[in-house]
Order: sequence, then structure tokens, then C-alpha cells
Amino acid sequence: MERRKFIVQTATPFLVFCAACSKSGNSTNSSSVDFTIDITNTITTPGSSITRDGVIVVRVNAQNTNSSFIAFQVECTHAANPIVWNQSAQQFNCNLHGSVFSITGAVINGPANRPLKAFNLSLTGNNLRVTG
Ligand code: FES
Repeated sequence: MERRKFIVQTATPFLVFCAACSKSGNSTNSSSVDFTIDITNTITTPGSSITRDGVIVVRVNAQNTNSSFIAFQVECTHAANPIVWNQSAQQFNCNLHGSVFSITGAVINGPANRPLKAFNLSLTGNNLRVTG
């Protein structure tokens, strides 16, 4: 077998494997979303949340304004475990390895070292549109 052909055939599977590995540590959610939630009977109380299309949408207070809600990628940026909202502490917790994120998505405690991706919110009547 020709040397160059041998190298290509033996290195290609390794490179594919390495590309897959690089996605497992400090994961990202780069896909775009665009959906609308009717909040008439959903996430009606402060601290309640709903997860859809990889996004966790949380009601942080009882008012009905854009700032009454926050939306972030649901996957922890460390290793993609779903985060949960802690209303009393006003932060997201990842219960797999203990990362903590602020209400703005910033890392408070690792091992995650990157912030959560935030999504845009637009409230029209009872329709909360999530994009990003
Ligand atoms: S997946 Fe490891 S801290 Fe979240």
C-alpha cells in the first residue's frame, strides 16, 4: 500500500472520533429556535419553567412583561446535563457536577467555564415568542 494512502486510511477514523469528543466537553447549543408559548395557563407562577427545543423558559416574577421571563439553553455548558432553575436563589443549577449560573447565564461556579446561551423574548398579549 502506498504510504500516503495508508496514512489517510488510518488517520481518518481517528480524526472523526476526535471531532465527536470535542463536542462532549463544555458543550454548546448553537441551533436557532423560534417558537411561541401561550402563557395563559403555562408558567403562570414565579419560578415555574417550561423546556422546549433545547431552551428553558422561566417566569421570574408575577408581572406580565418581557423582563418577567428569561430563556437560556437548557444544556449545561460543561457536559450538556439539563440545568434547573432555583427561584429562591435566582440561579440555575446543574446537578450533575455542580455548576451554577446566574440569572444572566454567567458562570458562578464551575466546572462549566462558559455562560449559558441566552434567547430573545417578546411578549404580545399572552404570546411569549422565543427566538435566537
Ligand atoms: S454537566 Fe457538568 S456541571 Fe453541568
